[in-house]
Amino acid sequence: MSNPADAIKTMKLYSDVERVDRELRALGKTPHAPLTPEDLAAFDQLHYGGTGAVDEAIRRLGIDASTRVIDVGAGLGGPARHLASNSGCRVTAIELQRELHTSASRLTLRCGLEQRVEHLHGDFLQALLPVAGFDALVSWLTFLHIPNKALLLERCRSVLKAGGLIYIEDFFQRGPLTAPERESLERDVYCTALPTADEYRREMENAGFTDVELVDMSADWTAFVANRRRRFAADRVRFVHLHGPATFGKLDAFYQAIQALFEGGNLGGIRIMARAG
Ligand SMILES: C[S@@+](CC[C@H](N)C(=O)[O-])C[C@H]1O[C@@H](n2cnc3c(N)ncnc32)[C@H](O)[C@@H]1O
Repeated sequence: MSNPADAIKTMKLYSDVERVDRELRALGKTPHAPLTPEDLAAFDQLHYGGTGAVDEAIRRLGIDASTRVIDVGAGLGGPARHLASNSGCRVTAIELQRELHTSASRLTLRCGLEQRVEHLHGDFLQALLPVAGFDALVSWLTFLHIPNKALLLERCRSVLKAGGLIYIEDFFQRGPLTAPERESLERDVYCTALPTADEYRREMENAGFTDVELVDMSADWTAFVANRRRRFAADRVRFVHLHGPATFGKLDAFYQAIQALFEGGNLGGIRIMARAG
């Protein structure tokens, strides 16, 4: 599987994308019924800390109705919709996987946010995007999938206006990863290369970013992923009834692998903020 849009499916979080539709039906929302971003918040935030993490980005970057934002690796579009509906900004949300992109576009339409959230399907590294077209670039848990950080950050710099801001929440190598940890990252998370915090800072500066600020999120995220797995196990009967045992098994294995990686202490979480020089 050489196509990244297929290869990434080794990460089980990305299987059975239709589970969002089943959850909505179970809540009594018929397939075309209007939705609010709040209706979706329990299912469409594929990162840690839910919409609170997105509020933090709004606050730290000073995002408002005049800000043009690009969200890299938009997933189901949860962060993009939350950004738009809570700050009034306009967001371009780019996503590699076609099913997630299609689902994200449909959910945005149902929320009536299509004037403010534009969904693009494609690889951020290759898509046709305006040079210096954005005031802010945000990204949650996507950089871990892209091994060539120099190319990725150069691309980030090029789509930002001079003085534009970047806000990333992602994985980093907190301690030397063991061979089984590397295997798990590659197999369970589709992550083949992970910088240390120092390497991230260097890569950012090499790409032309200034005022680089790094925050270690590892303690919060370790607690978050342990709690997520506990809640998932407690919800087993309802979840299996709605989505079947195979989907439960896949997600449980995924949540378990992530919890073990964070608890091992060598995988960490990092928030990176910087300014395009
Ligand atoms: C863990 S998900 C997070 C989704 C979203 N940021 C969120 O927090 O809800 C990471 C997403 O990045 C996407 N992705 C990975 N590589 C990408 C690339 N090169 N271009 C665009 N999207 C990419 C994946 O397909 C996946 O949907």
